[in-house]
Amino acid sequence: MSARHFLTLLDFSPDELRALLARAIELKQWQREGRGFEPLKHKVLAMVFEKSSTRTRVSFETGMVQLGGHAMFLSPRDTQIGRGEPIEDSARVLSRMVDGIMIRTFEHEKIERFAEYSGAPVINALTDDYHPCQLLADMQTWFERRGDIRGATVAFIGDGNNMCHSYINAARQFDFQLRIAAPEGYLPRADILAAAGDRVMLTHDPMEAATGADLVVTDVWASMGQEEEQREREKAFAGYQVNRDLMARAASDALFMHCLPAHRGEEVSADVIDGPQSVVWDEAENRLHAQKALLEKLLTP
Ligand code: CP
Ligand code: NVA
Repeated sequence: MSARHFLTLLDFSPDELRALLARAIELKQWQREGRGFEPLKHKVLAMVFEKSSTRTRVSFETGMVQLGGHAMFLSPRDTQIGRGEPIEDSARVLSRMVDGIMIRTFEHEKIERFAEYSGAPVINALTDDYHPCQLLADMQTWFERRGDIRGATVAFIGDGNNMCHSYINAARQFDFQLRIAAPEGYLPRADILAAAGDRVMLTHDPMEAATGADLVVTDVWASMGQEEEQREREKAFAGYQVNRDLMARAASDALFMHCLPAHRGEEVSADVIDGPQSVVWDEAENRLHAQKALLEKLLTP
């Protein structure tokens, strides 16, 4: 199938990603000015959610409406997808009717298979392995505050999860240094890490990762689908909290990001997430603007 998909940050070139962020910043400004822009009139985005969501659902749905189109929420419970209709068949059917398909699911392989059979662009709205749309918003937030991120040092503290993997890809595509601090047993995937070469450094020491960092990032200790591991993960990640002591090791003007939802008192202390270095609300808002730029890119000829 010939459609262009966005399953990971590696699907776009570094230049395309930078252009996308510039466009996102412009669309945000237009929205603020009340300037209408509707390139997606009569276009429909299907949104398949196999996991919960607040930000992703609301930002995609709002984004489609602001661009003149429509978004359709599909839960597996109410569609044949949840009753076992093959992914390949669902992809072929949906993509014959709608103009784009956004999917949040578990195994990354599932979205790859869906995309293979879809004649319409497929957007990864989070899998167990990646969360590229969140990285567009994070990078937009950095670019707005600090300019280009090339050459900066980013510390990712916590689980080697989907957010961590997407940060590794971002380090490759945006050309920054990434330091990951994760406990044994919760490291990022070795192949994803290896592909980033010396742009990414791995340690078990959060203080080492944070020292001199320009941006400090964390995420939940137990992701969606890992709820029953919560207790055991709390033990494994004790010592990996982003708190005032850790932020004190970072650059004095370091920013703090978290994709949200956050657990204050676990991966981040309340004084950091609610403090002056935190940009989490811009980060959340930018999901809307960055994804509008993405939808424009993928859904217009
Ligand atoms: N950050 C993020 O993807 O949030 P939701 O799970 O609320 O969509
Ligand atoms: N790592 C988290 C991100 C949530 C947006 C999860 O997968 O649940």
